[in-house]
Amino acid sequence: MAGKKTLLVLPGDGIGAEVMAEVRRVIEWMAKKRSVAFDIREGLIGGAAIDATGGPLPDKTLADADQADAVLLGAVGGPKWEKLPYEKLPERGLLGIRKEMGLFANLRPALVFEALADASTLKREVVAGLDIMIVRELTGGIYFGQPRGVDTLPDGTRKGYDTEVYTTPEIQRIAGAAFDLARKRGGKVCSVDKANVLRSSILWREEVTKLHAAEYSDVQLSHMYVDNASMQLVRNPKQFDVIVTGNMFGDILSDCAAMLTGSLGMLPSASLGAADKKGRRKALYEPVHGSAPDIAGKGIANPLATILSFAMCLRYSLEMATEADLIEQATRNVLASGLRTADIMQTGMARVSTSVMGEALVRELDKLVS
Ligand code: IPM
Ligand code: MG
Repeated sequence: MAGKKTLLVLPGDGIGAEVMAEVRRVIEWMAKKRSVAFDIREGLIGGAAIDATGGPLPDKTLADADQADAVLLGAVGGPKWEKLPYEKLPERGLLGIRKEMGLFANLRPALVFEALADASTLKREVVAGLDIMIVRELTGGIYFGQPRGVDTLPDGTRKGYDTEVYTTPEIQRIAGAAFDLARKRGGKVCSVDKANVLRSSILWREEVTKLHAAEYSDVQLSHMYVDNASMQLVRNPKQFDVIVTGNMFGDILSDCAAMLTGSLGMLPSASLGAADKKGRRKALYEPVHGSAPDIAGKGIANPLATILSFAMCLRYSLEMATEADLIEQATRNVLASGLRTADIMQTGMARVSTSVMGEALVRELDKLVS
């Protein structure tokens, strides 16, 4: 292993700190049992940063993120900060770090673990064996488009507006990322848009089609309107391999896809920037679930999404695929052993706390290497 890997850990708010504590356990295990030395920095983001510094994204956090091999993030937001002015909201910290680090490609796998196939609200036969990847554009679209604002009109009524906007290079780079991934998976990409209504979507579809014809004709490409895609995701999700879509459609569809797997508490994500000359990408790893203020501090949150996000970090940023495989296998084993956090609880299983789940996962890791 060449040199120490620097990780910036940003627990954030709500259950963020609780689930990140379990990742720290896995990191310690890696250091002890796999001789992988990590240099761990901890930083502030979201509400935690607002309380300590007055803003949701301190410069120090951005500077540390720039130095790190990868960033691990818990979650941001909560009722405590909901009433703050727009620019000070905890969510601005998350959107800000994604934008500042140039993390345009958000990979959100939806994978159904065999032991959880019955935990989904959908029938087992619809979801068993599901393995899809949503590739969400993360630094453009209506999340960042200008103009945006709330104006007061002459008659005293108000107008709120945001702008959905995509440029050719933005579409090409996210579509390229999706095609590259599809080549390593099932060889299929479904591009999701609203090209029957939105001008930006018409451009999206044209550019995806052009890139496909020019460089990726070995990949099977289809297009789908987003309303249909949301319906198809619950009707027959296994028809998909890779889904590529814009920022807001991806936000919505990935929550839907997450639920196919039984719980939002199971889904990891990776957010990647462009490769530099050495092929290295800036990267941030976070669970798809949010800060869940309703259960924060109770020790009942599911740490597996964050632990699986760390596995993605090992795979995509640190060239440690073997260790990533170990974590994923330990997750399968811990679920097969019948342990469940509240969100995935089923009759006949043993309900455990956040930390007991973390400890059990580490024990499974031990078994795998002994
Ligand atoms: C997500 C979240 C964020 C988003 C929020 C918290 C800003 O929903 O990562 O999906 O909308 O991107
Ligand atoms: Mg979301």
